[in-house]
Amino acid sequence: MSAVPQPRVQYQPMRDTDLVPVTAIEESIYEFPWTRGNFLDSLHAGYTCWLCQDTHGLVGYAVLMNVPDEVHLLNLSIAGHLQRRGHGARMLEFLIDNARSAKLRRMILEVRPSNDGGRRLYANFGFREAGIRRDYYPAAAGREDALVLALDL
Ligand SMILES: CC(C)(COP(=O)(O)OP(=O)(O)OC[C@H]1O[C@@H](n2cnc3c(N)ncnc32)[C@H](O)[C@@H]1OP(=O)(O)O)[C@@H](O)C(=O)NCCC(=O)NCCS
Repeated sequence: MSAVPQPRVQYQPMRDTDLVPVTAIEESIYEFPWTRGNFLDSLHAGYTCWLCQDTHGLVGYAVLMNVPDEVHLLNLSIAGHLQRRGHGARMLEFLIDNARSAKLRRMILEVRPSNDGGRRLYANFGFREAGIRRDYYPAAAGREDALVLALDL
């Protein structure tokens, strides 16, 4: 048994009323953040939107879009001061477990080639490169490609 206490978190569906803390985290960790409107559109489109919360408040969130037999992970974010404590890995495990329970075939996502943390997280779960989307992301010097990663479920 591990002597390291595991933080207690809960995963709950995101609602419109959660968007103040969600966008506060989003704006604090990304150079090109999603807007409140992007999150609202996701909620209203019926995308799967999760919060990860502990007793102190919001730890992180995720947005996923189901296409018939695949799930597209659109956003996975952990508050800056809580990163690198295992929250991202545990949340991704939760999302993958849900997708497997729903009998989905594949999880796909885009990540910036420059995002070492994200790439390492996804590689640890067995995601493999499935393609490149040219000029997908805004960047300080123009645009940045996206790596498309996929995990067979
Ligand atoms: C990427 C992110 C979701 C990972 O969540 P996290 O809670 O910080 O990560 P964890 O503590 O669960 O660590 C998971 C793995 O990622 C690695 N990792 C996380 N952040 C890292 C960083 N900045 N640099 C290098 N590796 C990093 C960890 O080392 C760990 O790998 P290891 O077990 O081989 O050491 C989180 O850092 C984040 O929100 N970043 C900003 C937003 C983002 O990039 N989201 C993904 C977009 S596709």
